[in-house]
Amino acid sequence: MQMYDLINKKKNHGELNKEEIEFIVNGYTKGEIPDYQMSAFLMAVCLNKMTHEETAHLTVAMANSGDMLDLTAIHGVKVDKHSTGGVGDKTSLVLSPMVACLGVPVAKMSGRGLGHTGGTIDKLESIPGFSTSLSPEQFIDNVNRIKMAIVGQTANLAPADKKIYALRDVTATVDNISLIASSIMSKKLASGADVIVLDVKTGSGAFMKKYEDSLALAKEMVQIGTLAGKPTYAVITDMNQPLGRAVGNSIEVIEAIETLSGKGPEDLLEVSVTLASYMLLGAGRVKSPEEGRELLLETIRSGKALDKFAEFVSAQGGDSSFIYNPELFKKASIIYEVKAPEDGYVTDIRTDEIGMASVVLGGGRVTKDSTIDLSVGIVIHKKLGDKVSKNEPIVTLYANDDEKRKEAKKRILNAYVFGKEKPERPPYIYSVVT
Ligand code: URA
Repeated sequence: MQMYDLINKKKNHGELNKEEIEFIVNGYTKGEIPDYQMSAFLMAVCLNKMTHEETAHLTVAMANSGDMLDLTAIHGVKVDKHSTGGVGDKTSLVLSPMVACLGVPVAKMSGRGLGHTGGTIDKLESIPGFSTSLSPEQFIDNVNRIKMAIVGQTANLAPADKKIYALRDVTATVDNISLIASSIMSKKLASGADVIVLDVKTGSGAFMKKYEDSLALAKEMVQIGTLAGKPTYAVITDMNQPLGRAVGNSIEVIEAIETLSGKGPEDLLEVSVTLASYMLLGAGRVKSPEEGRELLLETIRSGKALDKFAEFVSAQGGDSSFIYNPELFKKASIIYEVKAPEDGYVTDIRTDEIGMASVVLGGGRVTKDSTIDLSVGIVIHKKLGDKVSKNEPIVTLYANDDEKRKEAKKRILNAYVFGKEKPERPPYIYSVVT
């Protein structure tokens, strides 16, 4: 079999069989297929799509490309949550301690930033000392002791996805239903959780901009999970504007801390609580999402969720004094307000541009090997439907380089659309696929 022929087949709208897909996945993982051929193949997939069968074969081949974690040593029904990627999406940091407080083990494997979207692992690394790589024994021990652990994808967990993910990030081949579904579900199948809750984003900051595409992605992933015998729920949530107000790394951790302290933004709390209520439902901890909701909100009111977050940070080597004193986080040296160019209402936000503004500031990767600046980011002051007056600040930029700050400002002004009519605000949650 030759990779050239398989690229050509996909270019000509052909359907690949199981053996062909395994050849590509295994060859690329072992380094026998070079990046340039894999990039051409991924682009052909983006342009010509894959069938459900091809997507299922791709998912299984990627899951089998490395270790299949055995988490049976963790007591209880283990739940995991994964987002399809958004801007300002720090729900994992908010919901994991809430769910853990209620005795349901959260054994979570998270990703790094991808394209214009942020990643939980990058965010957690802004806490001094925090380790996102634990041995399987430590991971299991932490979940058994404190009911939660969040780690990066280990080198040998779905290594095919790890390599392909990094390549997609820099070759504009992220936004394809089959590539996203197989990327997420291969990791979920390999990482041993019993129940999977998926946060499928929809809107201008999501990889799937249209609701119908998000729904198709949700159905594809729920089908893969169900076939693998794992109860899977997908909640379709809004990404027509950043979630909460902070976009970056350390500033998102600070917003998660505020939310766990009962002082966070309503949209972030609502999305986190909804996802968490399905985690509790899937684990059999509650009979309905509504019952879960009340219990979850109480973990914030009682202060237990914040204490759990601090306990989790310490258990992974992080300095938990940052959790109780977020002003300790390193600050960016330039603080700059971007002002509204006219009077009116915010009628549209090109949220992927906001994500790219954060990448440009240094908060995300431009090439596979870029290092990121954890202190930079954006705080959003004006969201959809808000009234603005000319020269009022719409966002604050946190930067460490004036050239990058100027480029980010351009992107922000390009992202905001103003109009005279007040628009309807989008819902936080659209639907749930089970
Ligand atoms: N998250 C993933 O893990 N993979 C994708 O392809 C997109 C979001």
